[in-house]
Formats: sequence, C-alpha cells, structure tokens
Amino acid sequence: MSADKLKLWGGRFTGATDPLMELYNASLPYDKKMYKVDIEGTRAYTSALKKVGLLNDKELSEIHRGLDELLKEWDADKFVSVQGDEDIHTANERRLGEIIGREIAGKVHTGRSRNDQVATDMRLYVREQLQNIRAILVEFIKVMTTRAEQEIDVLMPGYTHLQRAQPIRWAHWLSSHATYLATDLERLDQVIERVNNCPLGAGALAGHPFGIDREYLADTLGFNGVIGNSLTAVADRDFIVEVLFWGSMILNHLSKMSEDMIIYSTAEFGFLKLADAYSTGSSLMPQKKNPDSLELLRGKSGRVFGQLAGFMMSLKATPSTYNKDLQEDKEPLFDCLVTVSHSISIATGVISTLEIVPEKMQGALTMDMLATDLADYLVRKGVPFRETHHISGEAVAMAEREDLSGIDKLSIEQYKQIDSRFEADVVKVFDFEASVERRTATGGTARSAVLKQLSNLKQAVSK
Ligand code: ARG
Repeated sequence: MSADKLKLWGGRFTGATDPLMELYNASLPYDKKMYKVDIEGTRAYTSALKKVGLLNDKELSEIHRGLDELLKEWDADKFVSVQGDEDIHTANERRLGEIIGREIAGKVHTGRSRNDQVATDMRLYVREQLQNIRAILVEFIKVMTTRAEQEIDVLMPGYTHLQRAQPIRWAHWLSSHATYLATDLERLDQVIERVNNCPLGAGALAGHPFGIDREYLADTLGFNGVIGNSLTAVADRDFIVEVLFWGSMILNHLSKMSEDMIIYSTAEFGFLKLADAYSTGSSLMPQKKNPDSLELLRGKSGRVFGQLAGFMMSLKATPSTYNKDLQEDKEPLFDCLVTVSHSISIATGVISTLEIVPEKMQGALTMDMLATDLADYLVRKGVPFRETHHISGEAVAMAEREDLSGIDKLSIEQYKQIDSRFEADVVKVFDFEASVERRTATGGTARSAVLKQLSNLKQAVSK
C-alpha cells in the first residue's frame, strides 16, 4: 500500500499529498509534547468503550499493554515517527497498531474523532502545565514577602510620573508587586477551573453513537465535568485564549516591576545591585554590567501578548465546530507556557539575589517629599486641606527663594510669617520615618500596614 493509502483518512483519496502540504499540515513536530496525555486519553476512552460492550476484557488489556509500551518508547526517546504521522494522535495510533496488531488497535478509535481527542489532550496538557506554573508562582510570592519582611526598615522615595512623590518603605514596593502576583494566582485558579472540563465522547461534532459514558470519561481523566454540547466541545478554544491572556497579564506585571528595577539599578539611582547571575557584560565596554534578565522580562511581555492577539485573530469568524485553523492554537500556547514559566523563575532568581543599597534609597529622600505632610500638619489643627495645600506650597516657594536646601530649613519665624497657625512643633513634620508611620490605614506604607499586607499575601498563597 502507498503511504497515502495508509493515512487514517486515506480511504477516499486517489491523488498523493503535495510534499509541502504534508509539512504545512503536520503538527507532530510540536504536538508530540502531548504524547503522554494522548495516551492517557486513549486509555480512559478504551475503558469506556469496554463499558458499552465495544471491547472485551482481553482486547482492553491488550490495548492497555500496548499503550504502556508506547509510553515507554516515548519516555525513553525511542519513538520513531514515519512519513504520514500527521500529528500525535495519528502517530500514536499507527504505532499502537504495530505493537498489538491492527486487528485490535483498529477498534480504539470507534466513535472518537481527532476533534474530541485533540481538545481533550490540550485540556489535560494545559491543566498539568498550569499546575506547575502555579507552584513556581507561589514560590515567587513567598520570596517577595520574605524579602519584604526582612527589609521592612528600609525607606525609599515613592514615585508618580517617575518624579519623587512621598517616602515609602522598600517593603511596600515589594508588597505592591506581590499584590499583582496574588491576583494573578487567583485568576490562574479560575482559569484552571474552566480548563478542567471534558470534551471527550463528543465524537467528530454530533455526539457519540454508542452511548459512551461521558461522565465516566470525565471522572477517569480527573475533569470537573463534561462540556455540555458536542459542537462546542470540539471547537471551544476559549481556554487557550484565557491562558494566553493570563500569560500576557502576568508578564505585563513582571515587565513593570522589571522596568522599576532597571531604573533603580542605574548608577544615577544606585538603589539596588543585580547579582552577577542575572546580569551580562558588554563585548566592547569592559566596565558594563547590564540588567539583561530584566530587559528580557520586559521584552518577552510583548511577545506573549502578540501570541494572544495572533490566536484571537485565528479564532475569529471560524465556522461552527472543528476547522483546521484550530491547530494554530498550539505553537503560541506552548511558547507562552514555556516563556511564562521561565520568566517567573528568572524573576524569582533576580529578586532573591539582588542586593539593596539602603543608604542610596534613603539618601534619595528629600524634604520636598514632605510637603504633603506639612499640609496635613495644619489639617490636624483644623485648617481645610485646600487651604493647607496652598500654604505648604508657599513654604516650598519661600525655601526656594531663600536658597535653602529644603522646607525644614525655614525658621519658625518664617513659618509664622507664612501662616500664624504654625507652631514650634512643626519641626516634627521633617522626619521621613514619621511620615511613613502616619500611613497606617489599610494598604498604607506604615510598618503595621505593610506587615498586614504581607500576612494577607502569605495567607493567599497558602491555600
Ligand atoms: N492536529 C489536529 C489539531 O491539532 C488534530 C485534529 C485534526 N482533526 C481533523 N478533523 N483534521 O487540531
């Protein structure tokens, strides 16, 4: 028989496949990474076939023995693909036939289509990968919170518009980024919930003609339930879009955190030093130490979002049920999973090994950053904030006019001149620690408020 006749769908074809079409159509080079879940799916499916009397005990045990052997071949990297192995499903079925004989192997696909098969494989594969990613994300959040607890004493400037704004704790900055990540974790759990639904037993599109027990299939494969419409079951790739979105969002978060750290590690800021393990040098300038890890994190966020946008376009306006466009889900998805998982691990490495320079952070605090606190001082004496904002602005202006280094250098007489409600205790305002410690309300930068955030984060990851 010619290779074309041996194809699973070879029966109705007379002409040979164009060699480029063969390559263009083949997904085995990238979908072979699903070999294990494909075998797992077939194992469950054949058990279900036995339940409806389409296989007997002997046939089933022979099939399961063959699947075990097939799995061993893949695990040992001994699987040899042949021409015509279009994708992982055809490759596995072909090889199973060689191991146990075509007579029995030929019954495996009864009532099943590659359409419900691939949808099932993808969900099983994604579920496993997301659980791995979940574990490294939890680890990352723990590293962030532990570091924050250890360095809670360190103050630094907080910025808006990248201009010095108000003093904050370095731990508050860490906690802020960990807070985004905790939301990513929550969102991930919701995505896993929706991934974990079973399309198997939907057939090509119309449903199963032999009354297969889909609930049994779902249970056996550890799914939460079945997808309730066969047309949807074979076509639904929303879960892939969700994973690509999830990856885009977390990398977006990591890109922003990276950008801060790139800036903080410049000589101009000098707030932190990246470990050598996460930096590289220049081929020309011997003095350079570049934050490549952080730049890559920033750059890869663009790539993953591109995959989301690209796959959304592939999916858009596809007709009902299965169309080959859907095969385009794999490369972006696989790349996204690897990129996201590596990115979280790199970010964890960067955060756990960097060195902070507290003197530089604290040294960057300037008295003008307490102008709001000066306004608040008068608020505490009953003056409306709109008025105190103005008065504090006058103090900043006067200090500038008098060529003083900051608002703390104005004498009490000068303060009285600006507003008679200023008293000698105004000097208490000019203390960065005191400023930070006033922000005790939930979510603020006072020690107690930051510790509370950290304890909430720790609780969120312990679930
Ligand atoms: N390799 C295909 C995919 O990934 C499997 C499903 C093929 N189904 C079909 N009707 N041609 O989408």
